[in-house]
Amino acid sequence: MAEMKSMMVENRVFNPSPEFVAKARVNSLEQYKEMYKRSVENPNEFWAQMAEENLTWFKKWETVEEYSFTDDIYIRYFAGGKLNVSYNCLDRHLDGPRKNKAAIIWQGEPLEDSKTYTYQQLHNEVCKFANVLKSQGVKRGDRVGIYLPMIPELVIAMLACTRIGAIHCIVFGGFSAEAIRDRMLDAKAEILITNNFGYRSGKFLGSKDVADAAMAQCPDIKKCIVVKRVDKECNMVEGRDVYWDDLMATASNKCEPEAMDSEDPLFILYTSGSTGKPKGAMHTTAGYHLYAMMTVKYFFDIRDEDVYFCTADIGWVTGHSYCVYGPLGLGATSLIFEGVPNYPAPDRFWQIVEKYGVNILYTAPTAIRAMMKDGDQWPKGRDLSSLRLLASVGEPINPEAWMWYYTVIGKEKCPIVDTWWQTETGGHLIAPMPGAHPMKPGSAVNPFFGVVPVLLTAEGKEAGVNEGGHLCMKKPWPGIMRGVYGDPNRFKETYFVQQPGHYFSGDGARKDEDGYYWLLGRVDDVINVSGHRMGTAEVESALVAHATVAEAAVVGFPHDIKGEGIYAYVTLKEGVEGTDELKKELVAHVRKEIGPIASPDKIQFTPGMPKTRSGKIMRRILRKIAAGAVDELGDTSTLADSTVVDNLVANRQ
Ligand code: WT7
Repeated sequence: MAEMKSMMVENRVFNPSPEFVAKARVNSLEQYKEMYKRSVENPNEFWAQMAEENLTWFKKWETVEEYSFTDDIYIRYFAGGKLNVSYNCLDRHLDGPRKNKAAIIWQGEPLEDSKTYTYQQLHNEVCKFANVLKSQGVKRGDRVGIYLPMIPELVIAMLACTRIGAIHCIVFGGFSAEAIRDRMLDAKAEILITNNFGYRSGKFLGSKDVADAAMAQCPDIKKCIVVKRVDKECNMVEGRDVYWDDLMATASNKCEPEAMDSEDPLFILYTSGSTGKPKGAMHTTAGYHLYAMMTVKYFFDIRDEDVYFCTADIGWVTGHSYCVYGPLGLGATSLIFEGVPNYPAPDRFWQIVEKYGVNILYTAPTAIRAMMKDGDQWPKGRDLSSLRLLASVGEPINPEAWMWYYTVIGKEKCPIVDTWWQTETGGHLIAPMPGAHPMKPGSAVNPFFGVVPVLLTAEGKEAGVNEGGHLCMKKPWPGIMRGVYGDPNRFKETYFVQQPGHYFSGDGARKDEDGYYWLLGRVDDVINVSGHRMGTAEVESALVAHATVAEAAVVGFPHDIKGEGIYAYVTLKEGVEGTDELKKELVAHVRKEIGPIASPDKIQFTPGMPKTRSGKIMRRILRKIAAGAVDELGDTSTLADSTVVDNLVANRQ
């Protein structure tokens, strides 16, 4: 039944509303097609025009697009050009009407905590903090660790790094001490910016304690700048830790922006893959910034007078590109929110939309499903009439959630822009052009300008209509990552080997008879928990690090709210008893090793894993059992011991 309903809904097509189209930048399919054609037939001319019109340069580039997707992989955009990202996000907006416009509207978790920074005010704070960084010895090219919640200081710290040419390396506030340590060591950071305490659903988070535990194992970190988010004392290490406010009190608000090369690194952001250790995706300056801006401009059709609210945490790439660099580059007003969707009540997002008159809302299917479950009375109790465009990111949006977002939130007037992209891609690659494309619930629709996707079979042949294949890109776009920090070979090995000559995303997709893309999920051992990527190998290695665990295998399973949940099969060491207490202990252990997002939803103890005779775990079988599809196990004849499967099925959690 559920499947039938989805199928029926999926065939529906919704045209953008006439009121949206009337004001849209791109307002017809013909216009989208014409621009798309120009962007792929003549990328040098297309991107040069975009760069000329949308960025301010200290020195013009010499070449536009240069790359090789074979042999030695390299990608360069606007080589020879010089510019500064903080200058493009701030200074150039100051001599005109945007000077006194809100750059950042910050809403804290406590209802009464909010603050607005105009472009002028944000500029002052960024220049001051840039001087603070310099005074602490930070130089161009140095890596700066940032472990902060969603507070204005996070944006200030990022832009201050870009002002002096330092490379920020942000660790999501929900990550553990171990996760911070690994990232700081990999990035070779010598400074960390953090806060004393944070708020989470009405409770305090001991951020500094977590940072302290990480720093205890990072001998290179010599300085720690601490934001006092809560008026409460925290541990401060003499000689290492200094309060943000104390340093800012005497800092000058004059700081010349560093002239950066187009291809100088801008930031490193760690992301999970199918192999153990997270990799540092490195993004560079001009191409990334231009791409983040252009996707906001066209896919969100943003206007100067809009209030734009991206609910993502800046600790993820969505927050980097779509809370900060995209909107601020355009001189837009970006609303950032410290809290969660359901605190103090399930209408928190809608309360914010009403309070600030939000026009564009960008959130994730997992949040939409959770709010849908809480009931329509919550959004219906608020005035949502300011909304003009709704967007989604993180995982495929299921048609039921799409319909709810479209009807209950958008009142059938707002286009739903389902954006498919990745940490590696820097910005959106596939999404509907809101004033041009008829929408199909659950489809990410068509590529952005300059993006050339192709679906390839495992053998590298182009997949037919509706056939499905590996979602690859034939050529680069300005926002693509330029490498894995500190590990040049890993970039090629991860993305360019499986489908030679192409960037392979790790996702499967199909293209329908109208050329619309439908994302089908990861084809590797990566699971998508609440729109966040988690490597099964990472969770497994956390589990086997526990003294009682002999072997662990982790798979995803369908989860109502999270999209995918984490299902862990665990074989205990000889003589250890698999109790409920031990399950709890293992969950707590994984949270400590990685963070709460990696918590297994289910743990099943098993005396053995289903293995081939060569010793490889057959994850296909584990995935089917976790999903409850026990009658679809397929061929188990290649297993070394087929009784293992009966035991697994009988003890399914
Ligand atoms: C993976 C990337 C990009 C920002 C958030 C996550 C999945 C993301 C969609 C979408 C279907 C999506 C893919 C992708 N994904 N957006 N609209 N439809 N799948 O970034 O952690 O780098 O994860 O998220 O599987 O590969 P990320």
